[in-house]
Amino acid sequence: MSFAQDARIVSRELGRYYRQSVRGARPVIRQPPIEELVDGLELRKLATEGGMRGKKLTRFLRRYLDSTTRLHHPAYLAHQVAVPHPAGALASMIDGFTNNAMAIYEMGPAAAAIEFFVINWMLEKVGWVPAPSPRQLAEGPAHGGGVLTHGGSLANLTALLAARGRLVPETWNDGAPADLALLAPAESHYSVARAAGIMGMGRRAIYELPVDAAGRIVPDRLGEVFQRVKDDGRRPFALVANACSTAVGLYDPLQEVAQACRQQAVWLHVDGAHGAGALVSPRLRGLLSGIALADSVVWDAHKLMRAPTLCTAVLVRDARTLDAAFQQEASYLFHDKEQPGFDFIHRTVECTKAGLGLRFFAVLAALGERGLADYVERQFALAAEAYRYISAQPGFECAVEPQANILCFRTAGSDAEQLAIRNALISRGSFYLSTAEWNGRRYLRISFMNPSTTMREIAALIQQIRDLGPATGQPPAGQPPAGQPPAGQPPAGQPGV
Ligand SMILES: Cc1ncc(COP(=O)(O)O)c(C=O)c1O
Repeated sequence: MSFAQDARIVSRELGRYYRQSVRGARPVIRQPPIEELVDGLELRKLATEGGMRGKKLTRFLRRYLDSTTRLHHPAYLAHQVAVPHPAGALASMIDGFTNNAMAIYEMGPAAAAIEFFVINWMLEKVGWVPAPSPRQLAEGPAHGGGVLTHGGSLANLTALLAARGRLVPETWNDGAPADLALLAPAESHYSVARAAGIMGMGRRAIYELPVDAAGRIVPDRLGEVFQRVKDDGRRPFALVANACSTAVGLYDPLQEVAQACRQQAVWLHVDGAHGAGALVSPRLRGLLSGIALADSVVWDAHKLMRAPTLCTAVLVRDARTLDAAFQQEASYLFHDKEQPGFDFIHRTVECTKAGLGLRFFAVLAALGERGLADYVERQFALAAEAYRYISAQPGFECAVEPQANILCFRTAGSDAEQLAIRNALISRGSFYLSTAEWNGRRYLRISFMNPSTTMREIAALIQQIRDLGPATGQPPAGQPPAGQPPAGQPPAGQPGV
């Protein structure tokens, strides 16, 4: 059995899976107990016998796909993980097959060239000067730079290391100074606090920024925080702003925040893991107005850019700051050599690094910039329409008017009820939502990632929630209206739509 034959099996089964998912013909989520899966997938038998090809491969794949969470299902509304464009999925396969660990140029020239191109493309979208040809990197005026990492969490750590390196370049020799401060709003992604911890900073070194009722930074009050940091005898090495925030998807006012940072000579890091994708749209990029004044930006292509997991860019306005972020040497990798390209290894925590750029580039090349912008605009518009619809429903409220494609809403019931609603929908397999805590209350949370989700699913979702319980003024739990199964039981026919 050849690779080509097995690849045909995989392609046929994935095609079938995709059609089922998009039609909503299977539950969006199904979570059998793990022991049942280990047995059902015959993992021990396959591992012992080997030979998973042909019919064995088909059987395994069908069982495997049957217990996946179906991101292509229009009722997939949970997390900010891209519903991958098929071109990106094929790119992942090409990368897996060639396995060019391209952190050093000689281990993947084509992949390194794509990463170089993708970074420059993103730098231009931010409004920064792209890097010249790799062989002229050390010459000429300052320009931007970047690297692709395996995810936004690692990217935030990388950017903050670059920020600290600018203020205290001797850290790698002397260890982390005890008097540094990191400034960030409470709405920041947890990976920011985690990065600070990894960098040797305790929680007390993180200063929460003043925010408005919606959780956005209030630039006029930044002076108070800078003063407090100073009074505490600390040096601020970076300020983090969200574009957009994880829980409710709001953008901080970057222009004003950047001006305040410049006055204090503090590094501004923009966490655009989710929301930097709006930069591709001429209509939406105003949400990030002022981003070019930042020092670093993180941008996940595996969120709004429809690239498969993972592909994140760490971008810096001045490439030298990222080049100085790491100072370790490895004699088997770093030495004089014929260098017709560019080694990214100096800019990243990682040593072996996948050819991540292809995952995003393939999507970009399939859709074109305009196609990608259309997708982002559609998802943002859908969130706005869902907000208007849900806000008008008796017994429902939304946290804030969305700016991006994230919408938080809740019923009039308790926090526990919101979790119970999510659990019931998940156990039916009819809708898959996440939840988030915002302003001390638990909300149901939708990320509109799926290009096949429409207002039809949103109307069906609200109806199903009504049918679940008394808090919305609808039939009590356990007495669903005709045609609806009780919570926890799979619905007849098509779930979710
Ligand atoms: C604003 C923000 N930053 C960082 C991250 C972490 O990114 P990743 O999941 O790629 O590690 C997320 C993830 O949701 C995010 O929303």
